[in-house]
This record gives sequence, structure tokens and C-alpha cells, in this order.
Amino acid sequence: MTVLLRIARLHKQFGDRILFDIAPFSLDAGRAYVLTGVNGCGKSTLLRILAGLELAGTSGVEFAGEPVQLDPYPAAMRAAIVYVHQHPVMFSTSVADNVGYGLKVRGTPNAKLARIVDDAMEWAGVSHLRGSDPARLSGGEKQRVALARAKVLEPKLLLLDEPTSNLDGAAREQVLALIPQLLEGGTTVVMACHDRDLIGLPGVVRIKLRDGRLERRNTNRGEPPLSLVT
Ligand SMILES: Nc1ncnc2c1ncn2[C@@H]1O[C@H](COP(=O)(O)OP(=O)(O)OP(=O)(O)O)[C@@H](O)[C@H]1O
Ligand SMILES: [Mg+2]
Repeated sequence: MTVLLRIARLHKQFGDRILFDIAPFSLDAGRAYVLTGVNGCGKSTLLRILAGLELAGTSGVEFAGEPVQLDPYPAAMRAAIVYVHQHPVMFSTSVADNVGYGLKVRGTPNAKLARIVDDAMEWAGVSHLRGSDPARLSGGEKQRVALARAKVLEPKLLLLDEPTSNLDGAAREQVLALIPQLLEGGTTVVMACHDRDLIGLPGVVRIKLRDGRLERRNTNRGEPPLSLVT
């Protein structure tokens, strides 16, 4: 399996506090990972660093086989990596505009954009919300719109920060049902979560931040050994 992202050393501190010091670290292309660890251990910070939203000390970074530096964050990674926040921010335009925003920024022609947005909204089960005020969506609806907004960008690496937290009942089930479909598309997915159902998805590799180190946990259902830490 090819490695999508390799980092020889990843070091983050806030003031005097070392949050983590990880070495080495790699993510396989097309693999799904769940990132666990106690509150405050640095899961969101790690995802934000990978997405270029936070600076960190890094060395020996390779993305898609090319050596890169994370400061300034490379355009190739900006185009290929999408981070979905735990509480997705909605622009106050329309739900469809929210889903299509990233494609519009990329200059996708309108007709093509409309088609892709329609498909993604149908996929996420939010077509009926087309005319709704994005600010008034429920937590579960926002998560599904945010997943559709991420999916249309066809990221190589999708970083989901607690996609099912704060959701229960049907809303949680609906979001849970979308995750395996994202994985089938061949995207590498890293999900920070505490949700046992996400952790238990078949083929998902568990990684855990503990005491500033990243540990590989047992893989689910007899999956072959993987090269998370090589
Ligand atoms: N800008 C910052 N300045 C100082 N400390 C920060 C900053 N951002 C995060 N932290 C601290 O870093 C630690 C890790 O935060 P982070 O949000 O990454 O944890 P987490 O593992 O995602 O937690 P949770 O499970 O609650 O989501 C926390 O103690 C947090 O207070
Ligand atoms: Mg977090």
C-alpha cells in the first residue's frame, strides 16, 4: 500500500507545555484511521496541524511521495486535505451554496457545480434542506451538510473531528451511515472520536494519543498489520 503522508517527527508545544512529540508517523493512501485519546490530549490539534490550520515543529515530511515543508503550508496539500470541524461553520447564504463553496473557489463552471452539489446533497440526505437557512440547521443536519461540502472536493485526505459527537438517535445514525461510503471512495480518512461504533467500523486502524505519543492499537476484525508507525 502506498504511503500518502509521512512525517519523520511532529512536535507541538503551547508555551512550556509539550502537547506531543511523535516520531515517525505515516498514513497509507485509502486507509481509514480513528484517532482516540482522552479530552485535551491533542487530537483536534493534530488534525489541525495536518490541515495547515496550526503550526508545529516538523521534519522529514513527505506528501504523495514529494518532500514538503508545512510552513508555509503547501498548495498541493491545501488542495488535497479537507478538515471537517466538530461544529461546522455554515455561511449564511444557502445550504446548496455551502456545499458548493469550495468548488466555486476552485472555479468549477456553474452547470457542473450545480450537478455535483445536487448529487452530494442527495448522498448526504439533505436535498430537502436546499431552501433552509443554514444557521438554523440542527447539529446532525450541519454535520451532513459539512460532509457533503467536504466530499465534493474529492480530498485525498479527509480529517473528521468528532463527526458524531453531540449527536444522538437518528441524527447520529445518519452521519454514521455516511462514513463507510466515504471510505469506499478511496479517500484516506482520519476521524478523531470517542464513538464506539466509529471505532468498530471494519478495516479501521485505531491510533491513540497518549502521554504525547501516538500508539497503534489492535486493528479490527483481523486486518493485516499496517504501516502507521514504521
Ligand atoms: N492555542 C492554544 N494555546 C494554548 N493551549 C492550547 C491551544 N489550543 C489548544 N490548546 C490546549 O491543547 C490541549 C489539546 O487540545 P485539543 O483540542 O487538541 O484536544 P482534544 O484531544 O481534541 O480534546 P477533546 O477530546 O476535548 O476534543 C488542550 O489542553 C488545549 O487546552
Ligand atoms: Mg478535540
